[in-house]
Amino acid sequence: MTAPDDRGAEGPGGLDRPRRDTTPAIEVRELRKTFRIRGGLLGQDRQVVAVDDVSFAVPTGGVLGVVGESGCGKSTLARLILGLLPPTSGDVLVEGQRLSAMDRRARARLIQPVFQDPFASLNPRRRIRDIVAMPLVAQGGIPARQVRDRVQEMLARVGLTAEQGERFPAQLSGGQRQRVAIARALVLRPRIVICDEPTSALDVSVQAQILNLLAELRRELNLTYLFISHNLAVVEHVASEVAVMYLGRIVERAEADALFRAPRHPYTRALLASVLTPEPGLGVPDVGLGDTLPDPANIPPGCRFHPRCPVAEPRCARQAPRPVDGAECLLLEAEQRPAA
Ligand SMILES: Nc1ncnc2c1ncn2[C@@H]1O[C@H](COP(=O)(O)OP(=O)(O)OP(=O)(O)O)[C@@H](O)[C@H]1O
Ligand code: SF4
Ligand SMILES: [Mg+2]
Repeated sequence: MTAPDDRGAEGPGGLDRPRRDTTPAIEVRELRKTFRIRGGLLGQDRQVVAVDDVSFAVPTGGVLGVVGESGCGKSTLARLILGLLPPTSGDVLVEGQRLSAMDRRARARLIQPVFQDPFASLNPRRRIRDIVAMPLVAQGGIPARQVRDRVQEMLARVGLTAEQGERFPAQLSGGQRQRVAIARALVLRPRIVICDEPTSALDVSVQAQILNLLAELRRELNLTYLFISHNLAVVEHVASEVAVMYLGRIVERAEADALFRAPRHPYTRALLASVLTPEPGLGVPDVGLGDTLPDPANIPPGCRFHPRCPVAEPRCARQAPRPVDGAECLLLEAEQRPAA
């Protein structure tokens, strides 16, 4: 899709630059998640490494876009940060507090999700106003009048009427249902929202409206977003920084402008080349990634991208690159090394 161009002077997507805060809103340290899958070939268990030693921090008010092909671990990362999955190892800190030390209610007050499919995530038998009220009710002890008022306020904020609040999910359009999911996510006034493909299930014409609504709410409420999308145009529109995932690892992380203008990692270059028309003169190789999806249960040795990398060298099959200056690639490592 073509993302709407509402860039203001403040930054991408009309968003102001993230406020520099000493405590990051989200901090992820050496996070790892493996899944055991029973009965593979010959009946043996297989281990899928969905998130592999991932570390990053997102400043308050920032928007970290996460991109990568299907199966690279984006949703697993989201679920780990939301506390919906326990990590195999590593830590998630939210505003400096360990997620694992918080109870569900405290977590819900700080961090909330918006998922891809609003129809699947809304209970079809409940009225919209009750769906939006649920996080408040689950906190316990909030007077009914206050719950009603807060729900009405949130519905209005996301552009829904009180009459629409009386309806059931099936009586709303896809875009309106996603507005309900956003109202439900924000009704507790959390500080952080994890958006996992929040516009992917919507008509192209509606996607821009929802993106603009999310940008507006982020600005008004000083929210921090982790924004997952396979759509690079969407990420370029909303994110202040971008992390590129490949087979569970973040292989490149950079300011959004820099990443889209001058991608450094061969995977990022190939990913951009496969969907965007890069500006001439950037040296972006014209390679498609093809449809050979990598198998996360069988991660290649050395650099995990080497079987598909257009500029791989023999050593790439043996030697794993270290993260240097936001990117993991042996060629970039060599560039950093001072000449002997
Ligand atoms: N509960 C689970 N049990 C076993 N394997 C899982 C489980 N959840 C995810 N996986 C595997 O972990 C890997 C990462 O999955 P994940 O859903 O995080 O990818 P994704 O990047 O969100 O993909 P998509 O773009 O298709 O949503 C995949 O190989 C997936 O099959
Ligand atoms: S380390 Fe080698 S295979 Fe990996 S991205 Fe760099 S050049 Fe390609
Ligand atoms: Mg996913």
